[in-house]
Amino acid sequence: MRTRTQVGIVGAGPAGLLLSHLLALRGIDSVLIEIRSREYCEARQRAGVLEHGTVGLLREADLADRLDRLGLEHGGIYLQFDGERRHIDFRELTGRTVTVYAQTEVVKDLIARRLADGGALEFSVTDTEVSGLDTDQPVLRYTDAAGTRHEVACDAIAGCDGYHGICRPAIPSGVLTTWERDYPYAWLGILADVAPSTDELIYAHHRSGFALHSVRSPAVSRLYLQVRPDEDIAAWPDERIWAELAHRFALPDWTLDQGLVADKSITPIRSFVSSPMRYGRLFLAGDAAHIVPPTGAKGLNLAMADVAVLAPALDGLLHGDERLAAAYSATCLERVWRATHFSWWMTTMLHRAPGADEMETQLQLSQLRYVVRSRVAAASLAENYTGYPERPGGRLEPAEPARGAGPHAQPAT
Ligand code: FAD
Ligand code: DHB
Repeated sequence: MRTRTQVGIVGAGPAGLLLSHLLALRGIDSVLIEIRSREYCEARQRAGVLEHGTVGLLREADLADRLDRLGLEHGGIYLQFDGERRHIDFRELTGRTVTVYAQTEVVKDLIARRLADGGALEFSVTDTEVSGLDTDQPVLRYTDAAGTRHEVACDAIAGCDGYHGICRPAIPSGVLTTWERDYPYAWLGILADVAPSTDELIYAHHRSGFALHSVRSPAVSRLYLQVRPDEDIAAWPDERIWAELAHRFALPDWTLDQGLVADKSITPIRSFVSSPMRYGRLFLAGDAAHIVPPTGAKGLNLAMADVAVLAPALDGLLHGDERLAAAYSATCLERVWRATHFSWWMTTMLHRAPGADEMETQLQLSQLRYVVRSRVAAASLAENYTGYPERPGGRLEPAEPARGAGPHAQPAT
């Protein structure tokens, strides 16, 4: 079946869903396709922390009803190391906060809104293909859940299909430069039916490895443990997880409450950046273009920041003004590299590398002491954690045209 749309969007994660909504606000139609089922997308446990500016973006886009009711505003985090647990006060240091609101809830809100607004959103598709990327009419092809093959002529395609998607590999070889770092550890994450044992997130450095206590609601906790990258989840029955968490968070006069483990998974950790984020009429956004280790809580925020830049850029492109589209990649990559550095810094400061010697441990502890004792160092962490730059992308009304094209602009060839 042959159809037409203005923007074809691949992937119904936070990036693709938010982009389709931001485009709709600008009167631009899109077709969004997703390989997984709606139920799968809404249940996939991932990130949980929204930067100050991400919350502002969702409010401006009229997507924050449930977020404002259920999101938990946090004014800081705890850093724990060497027997101390010290608070970094974001509110006092930057005047900003973060909001804990699970990615599952962001995705549910976005899907519900797109469907209520009559958006074209197809789940459980197969055999997605993109072609004609270096022309003015790229084509998106897929087979829907009923087995019908579709061919959608588009003005532009947004590759929001994550790290393992098909859009980035559709760019001819030699165009992209990539940077990648794999870390010698992974995160085991659990969702537990138990009230959080803390009022704010705890990032714990420990000689046995990193641990993170996050929250989901007054009755649900989210906790993570550093494990080996090749760790078998079967080797981690619930009792072992709780014992290890209690060990890494241990402090006198504090106990970690335990509950039923509702979800358990292991995630590899990597840094990855590919540049440029555009090839002809294909624009990459979110994990399709970059991955950060989760320690800085940046992945979800970066995905949404990208599409906040992309929506006005596509609006311009579709109306004959290429300037924001030409600047898209460079504008996003500036924020991406800042988050890549921050996430790498948090990760290497807090995790124990296999075979790390005492010198490395002492360097980490020195850095942690400096961060909690120096107001300037604490403010730097707080500024990055709450989101830098503060605003992801421009305001929702058409932004000021960029002055000249960025260095990564890719004219259609
Ligand atoms: P995704 O959310 O990955 O969405 C991409 C979508 O594209 C998916 O729904 C996928 O099914 C779909 N897709 C893929 N291929 C195709 C195709 N061929 N056709 C159609 N659709 C396709 N970040 C944090 O900050 N903290 C965390 O604790 C954290 N935990 C994570 C755990 C895991 C297991 C993973 C994978 C990521 C985690 N992240 C975390 C990162 C964060 O969740 C991501 O940065 C965020 O999901 C990026 O959003 P996105 O929309 O770019 O990509
Ligand atoms: C969560 C995940 C993170 O990676 C992080 O740094 C903080 C919180 C979470 O899932 O709640």
